[in-house]
Amino acid sequence: MTQDELKALVGQAALQYVVPGEIVGVGTGSTVNKFIEALASIKDRIPGAVSSSVASTEKLRAIGVRVFDSNEVESLSVYIDGADEIDHRGFMIKGGGAALTREKIVAAQSRRFVCIADESKLVDALGKFPVPVEVIPMAAQRIARQFAAMGGSAKLRLKDGAPLVTDNGQQILDVGGLSIRDPLAFENDVNQWPGVVTVGVFAHQKAAVCLLGTASGVKTLVF
Ligand code: A5P
Repeated sequence: MTQDELKALVGQAALQYVVPGEIVGVGTGSTVNKFIEALASIKDRIPGAVSSSVASTEKLRAIGVRVFDSNEVESLSVYIDGADEIDHRGFMIKGGGAALTREKIVAAQSRRFVCIADESKLVDALGKFPVPVEVIPMAAQRIARQFAAMGGSAKLRLKDGAPLVTDNGQQILDVGGLSIRDPLAFENDVNQWPGVVTVGVFAHQKAAVCLLGTASGVKTLVF
């Protein structure tokens, strides 16, 4: 099976976690796009969705799903999103699609995070995938130096030759070379640095379940 087929498989499998009659939280990325495609088949059973990005909002509206502002909804029973890496405890690195801040916000208002991913995303230790960090532009270089002091190498994410601008009007640093032994402590620490909007380690908002697409079908990991 190709990676695209594995993503479609888990996107479809995630439908069983959508609670009829309830608003669903929707993440961002190529795997979630497969989930959104699958959601079209049951869209009449839910009032709508809370979305984690402009891109997902557009896709949801295109299939006729109403998108609620996160402030209109107190809590969500489930949030469905992909990951760039997930470990055996449900801790994740996210933000490859630059939507990490809104993803963390919607995840925080959800009771259950269901991660959908192909098997290439499962790792023993987080950190091979460069950690995305959304930053306030005037702090970017100082934050890059702080990462360098802990052995990391931060690069400003570019798009079409210019710094990428997130949905929130900020920038992304991609930080390689980190070894993240304690994801909870790492998230706590970096989140306190002035100018950091969100660090793409999801330890406090970790997955409760991971639907992993493998050559032999969908494997369900429960954390
Ligand atoms: C978006 O900002 C990310 O957190 C995505 O959830 C993550 O990058 C996974 O994306 P893919 O499903 O495209 O691999």
